[in-house]
Amino acid sequence: MKIDVIVGLQWGDEGKGKIVDYLATDYDMVCRFQGGPNAGHTLKFDGKKFVLHTIPSGIFRANLLNLIGNGVVIDPITLEQEIIELQTTGLTFLDRLFVAHKAHLILPTHRLLDAASEASKGAAKIGSTLRGIGPTYMDKTGRNGLRVGDVFAPDFKSRYQTLKEKHLNLAAMYPEIDFNLAAEETKWFASLECLRRLQHVDGEYFVNQALDAGKRLLAEGAQGSMLDIDFGTYPFVTSSNTITAGLCTGLGVAPKRVGKVIGITKAYCTRVGSGPFPSELYGEEGEALRKAGNEFGATTGRPRRCGWIDLPQLKYTIMLNGVDELALTKIDVLNTFASIKAATHYHLDGKDTDSVPFEMVENIPLVYREFPGWEADTDACLQRQDLPQALQDYLYFLEEVLETPIKYISTGPERQKLIVTP
Ligand code: IMP
Repeated sequence: MKIDVIVGLQWGDEGKGKIVDYLATDYDMVCRFQGGPNAGHTLKFDGKKFVLHTIPSGIFRANLLNLIGNGVVIDPITLEQEIIELQTTGLTFLDRLFVAHKAHLILPTHRLLDAASEASKGAAKIGSTLRGIGPTYMDKTGRNGLRVGDVFAPDFKSRYQTLKEKHLNLAAMYPEIDFNLAAEETKWFASLECLRRLQHVDGEYFVNQALDAGKRLLAEGAQGSMLDIDFGTYPFVTSSNTITAGLCTGLGVAPKRVGKVIGITKAYCTRVGSGPFPSELYGEEGEALRKAGNEFGATTGRPRRCGWIDLPQLKYTIMLNGVDELALTKIDVLNTFASIKAATHYHLDGKDTDSVPFEMVENIPLVYREFPGWEADTDACLQRQDLPQALQDYLYFLEEVLETPIKYISTGPERQKLIVTP
C-alpha cells in the first residue's frame, strides 16, 4: 500500500483538520509528520469545536490509529493538556495514540529562546507562535536535541541540564524577557509522566509494517507550503518541510510509497504573522473577509491577514507537492460578496508572470481577474451542481488554471458541510 497525504497549499490555516477528519473514515491510521503545537487544526461536529495541536485529526474516529511521527516536535506540557481536554469529552483514545521515539522534545528553554529571539528582532520579527518550534528544530539539526525515546534514559536529567545551560548562555545574547523558567520546568517534568505512559513506537517500522500489511494510511501536514523552510517566503517561514516531501523524512517512508496527494486551499487567502503576502487586502475589503471568515488564529488568537486567492502562488505549491486533487475550503465565506477576485499573474520586470520569484517582496503588482459574486447561500447545496451557477463557473475557472480537479468543496465548518465530487 501507499500512504496518501494532505497538505496545505497556502500559508497554513486552510482547514486541514476538517478534511482529515472527514477522510479519516477511509483510512486505518492518520500520521502527523512535521510541525508541532504551532499548529491548530480545528474540527467542528455535534455543535462542538475542537482544536488539535499535536494529536492527529483522526483521533475522533473510532478504531482509527493515530501516530505522532518522528518529524514532529512535541511539547509534553501542551500534549498532556490536549490529552486531558479530549478525555473530558468522554473520548477514549490512548489505546489508539502512538508516539515515535525519534520525535524531538520542546524544552521550556526552547520557548524562552523563541520569545527572546523574536523580541530581539523588533520590526523584523517572524511573527512566530512562540511555541519553541524554531529553536527545537535548530537543536535537532545542530545534533543537540532530546528525543521522546530519551525520556527513559538514566542520564536524561543531566542531558536536560546540559542543554538547558546551553540555552541560557544563548539567551544571555538577547534582551531579557518575562519568563518564569522555574515554574515552566516544574510543569514540564510533571508532564513527562504523561508522555512516558503513552505508547512509544519506532515510527519508521510502525508505518512501513502497516503499509506492508495492507493498511490504509493518511499523512496529515501542518502549516502550509508557503511556510516551508526551503520553499516558503524565507525567512518568514516555519522550521520544517511542510510539503509532501516532508512526510518521507517525517515518518520514514520512501518516496515511492507516497500515494495520492490532496492539496488544500481556501477560496481566498490568509496569513498569520509577518512576511510577504502579495494579494493581501487592507482596509475595508480585508476586514470584510476577516469578519466573514472569522479569521483569527486557532493557536494564538491573532487576527489573520486576508486577501484574494493567488493563483501563481497556488501553481507553485501544486508543483512542489505533486497535488492530485484539490480541496477548496471556506467557499461560503464569499457568499455575500458582490464580486470575487483572483490574482492570475505577478507583474515583474515589465512582464506578467505566473512564477513565484526568489524574493516575494511585499508589494508585487498583481494582475487580477474579477468574477461576479453569487450572492446566495450554499447551506442547502449537497452536490456541485446544486451550487449557484456563478460559483460553479468560478470553480471551473480555478480547475482550468490550476490544472487540477477540485474534489472537495467545503461550505461551512461543520463536518457534514462538504461537497465531494464523484
Ligand atoms: P513558528 O512555526 O511558530 O516559528 O512560526 C513561524 C511562522 O509560521 C509565523 O509566521 C507563524 O504565524 C506561522 N505559523 C506557524 N504555524 C502555523 C500554523 O499552523 N498556521 C498558520 N501559520 C503558522
